[in-house]
Parts: sequence; C-alpha cells; structure tokens
Amino acid sequence: MTGNITFTMIKPDAVAAGHTGAILAQINKAGFEIIAMKYTKLSPEKAGEFYAIHKERGFFGELVDFMSSGPIVAAVLRKDNAVEDFRLLIGATDPSKAAPGTIRALFAKNIGENAIHGSDSDENAAIEASFHFAQTEIFR
Ligand code: RTP
Ligand code: MG
Repeated sequence: MTGNITFTMIKPDAVAAGHTGAILAQINKAGFEIIAMKYTKLSPEKAGEFYAIHKERGFFGELVDFMSSGPIVAAVLRKDNAVEDFRLLIGATDPSKAAPGTIRALFAKNIGENAIHGSDSDENAAIEASFHFAQTEIFR
C-alpha cells in the first residue's frame, strides 16, 4: 500500500524568479491538496541537515549554499499515491531530461537550481514533513 502524503519545497531559484503562484496552481490542478504550508528560509545548518544523505557528494556544498540562499515555500501535500505522482509532476532532477510540461521542465534553471523538491519515499515524506512542521500545523 502506498501513502497519501508527500513533502515539497519550492526552491530559492523559483521563488526568486516569481514562479511560486504558477507552481502552486500546477500542484492544485494535478489534484494535490495543500495540508500545510509556510514561507521560510533555511539556515545553512538546516539545509545541510535536510540533505544530509548527500553529504559525501561533490555537489553538497553547492546544494547547501543554494538551498539557504533565499526564501522557500515548504508544504505538505495530500493525494492518493502522493510520492510517486508528485515525482512525475515535477520531472527529472536535470531539467534538460525532464518530461515536457513537468514543473522542472517549465521552471528549473539547471540540475542544481531545479525549482522544486519532492520526497522520494513515504518514509522520507513523513520525516521531511516533521522536519518543517509541528503536528498542529498539518491539517490532515
Ligand atoms: P530533490 O531531493 O531536491 O527533490 O531532488 P532529486 O530527488 O530529484 O535529486 P537528488 O539526487 O535527491 O539531489 C538533491 C538535489 O541536489 C542538487 N543536485 N545537484 N550538481 C549536481 O550534479 C546535482 N545533483 C543534484 C539538486 O538541487 C537536486 O535536486
Ligand atoms: Mg531527492
């Protein structure tokens, strides 16, 4: 059985470029319900903690600098089969490989500054939602 919750962040590049409204509209149009949302900014420490799984990768420093460079929109989303359906909606990590019409194909600049995050498993969706939100801020 698959879960019905995923976690997303509209990343600093897309927020700075003014794409927040258009991206949220696509998320809603695809059938996701926003059950938690905040406009916030990650410190370098928090960005490093969030992406700790990548800390041995060559791009880790760049990723932490980028994710803490400006405000983001963090949200918890609900839909049947949320994790998989949301990854399909956002497209491949590298926007040049993302399917046409996906959020990354439309709004990402490059593989690093790629507009949006989506959880990669039900387990990580739950961990990431609790990383950003208190249980009282999630309206299930
Ligand atoms: P995300 O976690 O943000 O949803 O992205 P993802 O699953 O599609 O990709 P992942 O492998 O988890 O990588 C996390 C983020 O690190 C940056 N990255 N840069 N320069 C590079 O080669 C590179 N590779 C990854 C991207 O911001 C990517 O989304
Ligand atoms: Mg990932």
